[in-house]
Amino acid sequence: MRRSALLSGLAVLLTSALPAQTITSPGGTLALTVSLTPAGEPRYALTFRGRPVIRPSALGIVLKDRPSFERGFAIARVDTSSVDATWTPVWGESSRIRDRHRELAVTLTQAASANQRMIVRFRLFDDGVGFRYEFPAQAGLQHFIVTSERTEFALTGDHKTFWIPGDYDTNEFAYNTSTLSQVNGAIGGVANEIHARTPIGANFVQTPLMMKSSDGLYVNIHEAALVNYPAMHLEVDQRTFRLTSHLVPDAVGNKAYLRTPARTPWRTVLVSDKATDLLASRVILNLNEPSVIADPSWIRPTKYVGVWWEMHVGKSTWDYAGTQDMNSWENLANRKPSGKHGATTERVKRYVDFAAQHGFDGVLVEGWNEGWEDWFGQWKEDVFDFITPYPDFDVAALSAYAKAKGVKIIMHHETSGSVTNYERWMDRAYDFMQRWGYDAVKTGYVGKIIPRGEHHDGQWMVNHYNRVAARTAERKIMLDSHESVRLTGLHRTWPNWLAAEAARGNEFNAWSVGNPPEHETILPFTRLMGGPMDYTPGIFQITLDHWQAGKTEQVHTTLAKQLALYVTMYSPLQMAADLPEIYERHLDAFQFIKDVAVDWDDSRYLEAEPGDYLTIARKAKGRAEWFVGAITDENARTARVPLDFLDAGTTYVATVYADAPDAHWKTKPMAYRITSGLVTAKRVLTLGLAPGGGAAVHMRPATDDERRRMKAFR
Ligand code: NOJ
Ligand code: CA
Repeated sequence: MRRSALLSGLAVLLTSALPAQTITSPGGTLALTVSLTPAGEPRYALTFRGRPVIRPSALGIVLKDRPSFERGFAIARVDTSSVDATWTPVWGESSRIRDRHRELAVTLTQAASANQRMIVRFRLFDDGVGFRYEFPAQAGLQHFIVTSERTEFALTGDHKTFWIPGDYDTNEFAYNTSTLSQVNGAIGGVANEIHARTPIGANFVQTPLMMKSSDGLYVNIHEAALVNYPAMHLEVDQRTFRLTSHLVPDAVGNKAYLRTPARTPWRTVLVSDKATDLLASRVILNLNEPSVIADPSWIRPTKYVGVWWEMHVGKSTWDYAGTQDMNSWENLANRKPSGKHGATTERVKRYVDFAAQHGFDGVLVEGWNEGWEDWFGQWKEDVFDFITPYPDFDVAALSAYAKAKGVKIIMHHETSGSVTNYERWMDRAYDFMQRWGYDAVKTGYVGKIIPRGEHHDGQWMVNHYNRVAARTAERKIMLDSHESVRLTGLHRTWPNWLAAEAARGNEFNAWSVGNPPEHETILPFTRLMGGPMDYTPGIFQITLDHWQAGKTEQVHTTLAKQLALYVTMYSPLQMAADLPEIYERHLDAFQFIKDVAVDWDDSRYLEAEPGDYLTIARKAKGRAEWFVGAITDENARTARVPLDFLDAGTTYVATVYADAPDAHWKTKPMAYRITSGLVTAKRVLTLGLAPGGGAAVHMRPATDDERRRMKAFR
């Protein structure tokens, strides 16, 4: 690692007269300029190969009842340095990550405000920039309250945008595609299927925000290392294409309570003229702090099944009395007694047996504990205690049974948004887990937050999610959070936090208008920019009237596309979400889910266009096996996959799980075809993808016998 302090020490009392500071990224692709206006207001601008990406844009933080960090600044000091280092993530899309950037730290002082001081630190990579505000310890500034942030991203035109509406409580929307000037977040109707919503206004959007300029630049705005601060949403000026940071407020309208020394999360702008470069970017991870878990040997990328989808499709219920019905999600009055409790001892044993037989690590069990009869939509504080099982769920017997079979049961903590209650129970809940041998927990935050008035994406909740990551890490527990704030790369720091939902998952296909066929081509460019998603792929019974006569909902993909998602939707935590009975009817296709890796040495982003298609190849960690996933939106497509990433001297057996020629997500979603044959690095595979379809490929070195016996793939 090399650090150089070029101008450091230049120090003191310079001034707005100091010329604009420009740095270029290590490979020269990006250039960043920081300057002050005559009124002493800081501005930054960004170019990609000489083309403007961000026009001069404001920086600043507004404080409560004291002078704000907005204007009247002089530049007191400028420090630059550079880093070129490589680090090893505990798990990930590749086993080595290079962090190569130049840094510019600008110290700003306000003479008129007792020399109040703030640093803006920029890190410039070849594929993006991160910057944050830092408030050093200083006389006269100790405790303070942020009432708003003035960070702007002045874009160069009316870009095509993949957006979801700004909302303080949810991110479980389908994406809209429009130009910036046509963003209209005043969505009602279908969004009512989301339980707790707090829309901000028609011209607010969430990050990661994905855009494409008319001249072909891909631009993504998000944040990294969201710690002790609210999430950043963006206000769109639809005339000037200037986006402004909008922080999620707390119950009384403040944004953040800080104490020096303090710093904000990094604001990030990723940019390239190739969409695949954005998928390959490691900027957000690089901006996060290294892992704080000294011995991560207990953290395992995990494939799991669970007593889960059967509740979502209405076959069984979470609660003991069976009064719940997920199909009347929006209509409490429709709940009818059904006597269909899912998490019974016998049923869980069935899943444990299935997991053991097919080599899965875990079985998630939802609905095992008391409280579900009262969980939904009540905004009540004491609903769950996280330690009291229903009478038909025998914790001791199941723990012993799972242990004997070498399978872990995955704990479920639905908080119903009552986080004060969860905080009171957390220690006892984790004691309970450790007593019974659970080493992973899925948390959930369905409903309005308690403390009442707080939001899912505010500072109070951000601190809660991070606290849960820390507390579970202390206990060697892995974490998967649902309905939490979207990720910002904190899994580098807390690698026990395997995944989050924090977007619209596959579950919406079970009981709502669902996810349009393009959905999974957008998520890698939006939500997944911040980290892995527990999307819960692998639904084989695509049509859902199988579960209830007349049920019209369905999954909006083909079966083969569900397989491809294990490769295209990166996560170290992957569910095989359908029921054992369903997989047993399709053991040939199920083989792919059994084989696919959940941790990787290498990933190649072969082709991609947000909203249209995506093809990724990945090498399994520590194994000479490659997997390819190719998906498309509602349009049929042929994916060309040159296999030049394979080892040149090796012959592989390729097994291709593809849509049948007449497959179609709507009319014939479950028609697939499996073929295999020998391939080498010289081959180019052509994969036919049905409308709403996909293809999954597994390649492993052929044995001598296979090399003699098998034919070339055709
Ligand atoms: C919503 C979660 O996303 C889902 O996975 C879970 O089954 C339900 N809440 C119940 O907790
Ligand atoms: Ca959810």
